[in-house]
Amino acid sequence: MCGIVGIAKRRDHVIKDLIAALKKLEYRGYDSAGIAVLSNGTIHVIKGVGTIDKVINSTRSIKDGNVGIGHTRWATHGGVSKENAHPHISCNGEVAVVHNGTLDDFNIIRDKLIRKGHKFSSETDTEVIAHLIEEKLAEIGDPVKAFSQAIYELKGSYAIASIIKGYNFILLARNKSPLVIGVGNGENYCASDVAALLHKTNRFIFLKDGEIALITPDRVDIWYLSESTMKKVENKIEVIDWSPQLLDKGNYEYFMLKEIYEQPYILNKLANSIDYYKKFSDQLLRYSESGGISIVAAGTSYHAGLIGKFLLSKLAGMRSEVIIASEFPEWSHHVNKSDTILAISQSGETADVLEAVRIAKSRGAKVLSIANVPGSTLTRLSDETAFIQAGPEIGVAATKTFLAQVAVLYIISSLISGKSTVRIKDGLINVAKELESSMEHISTISRRISSLLMDREHVFFLGRGINYPTALEGALKLKEISYIHAEGYPAGEYKHGPLALIEKGVPSIVLVPSDERTREKIIYNIMEIRSRGAFTITIQPKSVNIPSDFSLPLDVKSELTSPMIYVVPLQLIAYHTAVSLGRNPDKPRNLAKSVTVE
Ligand code: G6P
Repeated sequence: MCGIVGIAKRRDHVIKDLIAALKKLEYRGYDSAGIAVLSNGTIHVIKGVGTIDKVINSTRSIKDGNVGIGHTRWATHGGVSKENAHPHISCNGEVAVVHNGTLDDFNIIRDKLIRKGHKFSSETDTEVIAHLIEEKLAEIGDPVKAFSQAIYELKGSYAIASIIKGYNFILLARNKSPLVIGVGNGENYCASDVAALLHKTNRFIFLKDGEIALITPDRVDIWYLSESTMKKVENKIEVIDWSPQLLDKGNYEYFMLKEIYEQPYILNKLANSIDYYKKFSDQLLRYSESGGISIVAAGTSYHAGLIGKFLLSKLAGMRSEVIIASEFPEWSHHVNKSDTILAISQSGETADVLEAVRIAKSRGAKVLSIANVPGSTLTRLSDETAFIQAGPEIGVAATKTFLAQVAVLYIISSLISGKSTVRIKDGLINVAKELESSMEHISTISRRISSLLMDREHVFFLGRGINYPTALEGALKLKEISYIHAEGYPAGEYKHGPLALIEKGVPSIVLVPSDERTREKIIYNIMEIRSRGAFTITIQPKSVNIPSDFSLPLDVKSELTSPMIYVVPLQLIAYHTAVSLGRNPDKPRNLAKSVTVE
């Protein structure tokens, strides 16, 4: 979703750097872009609809300077247009603002400002911020005070960066939307996430809700805004050990493919860090003794959460429930102070997940989280976080982080069950070996399967037991990047509805269990759909030979680790189908990597 950057340099020009940082945020999804630069005491703005490259071509028309802000917009308030693109400027052109989030009741402020003579040129909520700062500046004079007074009047979620004519600094404010400060040498930065700035620095300050900040090329000042007064806050710099190379596609055509291929290496890394998860597992076990465990997540992380519930139950005998984050407010009336939220989120910034966590915290519940991005808001709200160590994920469709989430849930459930580190490690290493040795073969077969799917209207994915969520994930991957309608279903439930859609040639991809009892049942399900003309594709253990129209046999050593193997061909089937249809798998239409609005 919307991305923000800001750069304050001592001498050099900023446009090139602003564009480089904005391009690192492209993966979040956007429809328009823009920058504002302070040069010779004046603000110059350039913005437009389309790619950042389009904006680059026209930057020759504006003067460069050494302080600037930039934005990628994912439309929420107002359509996709040049007027609605950020930065927004105030009437007198002396204040420029970029914003990520949504303001509540902004119409009230807007009407007030219109009555005072302000003229608006967009439909956005953001524009009110620029006019409000201008208004406060006229009243108060001091830019930092004027900025803080304007922020005090805002309600809703916001990460804001603003520049003001005549002042060589950037002002920031944050509430419920991500904003980090990058600390450099003779230059400082801000951005929506660390990925935008890793090529510049690995030293970050993570702003908290309610804080405002001022960054100059040499200084960072932070205050907590309380009852319209500002209290100075100490700067806490954290070093992030992600390498900037991880943000490079290397020889791969798309990030998604690169990230799929990284999976065996991530598994090996996790297999060698099982001890790191011991403290977290102990804490989860201890917390579970006082109350219930609610797993909360969205999208792909929700599917990992379902697998987590299965593993906690099967391995550790632990009861838990899984609630889709956006539904948590309605489905969680029972959650109270004796309970624990286990929040799972790659980005740690998904607004629905954060809202669920805030609700649970307000009732006194404990919060544990499984996250990927260091310093993300979820990690700040949690009592303890287990990191999945997958490195930055750029493809909008989550792949390697799903596998890493499942692996971490496997480790945690196994540790709680008393399994030895050696056995847990063996389980993960076996999966890593199978993936390493079969990746090329899986990719070739998946490409062949994709050629059977690309002209179909519907595709069904069926699984049982622990691979029912894997089937959901396979369907999600296919629909989100190829735009073919796909549905995942528990194979036994299929006959209670979707079977009506089966006619000759409808493809059904079936994940065959290695466990004999469940396998027997799925064989019946396969017979049911084949007898109605379905085109069946099975992904099955090498040790069995279940009849189907097309099959991909894989070496599955344990049912409990099988989702980590089965999901890989499903990711590659989706990838190859999207690419064959000419769709960019890294940037599916209408979707964003980090969904920071509810
Ligand atoms: C978006 C992304 C998905 C992701 C979901 C949850 O929809 O496109 O890939 O699974 O958000 O994100 P999270 O960061 O909370 O795991």
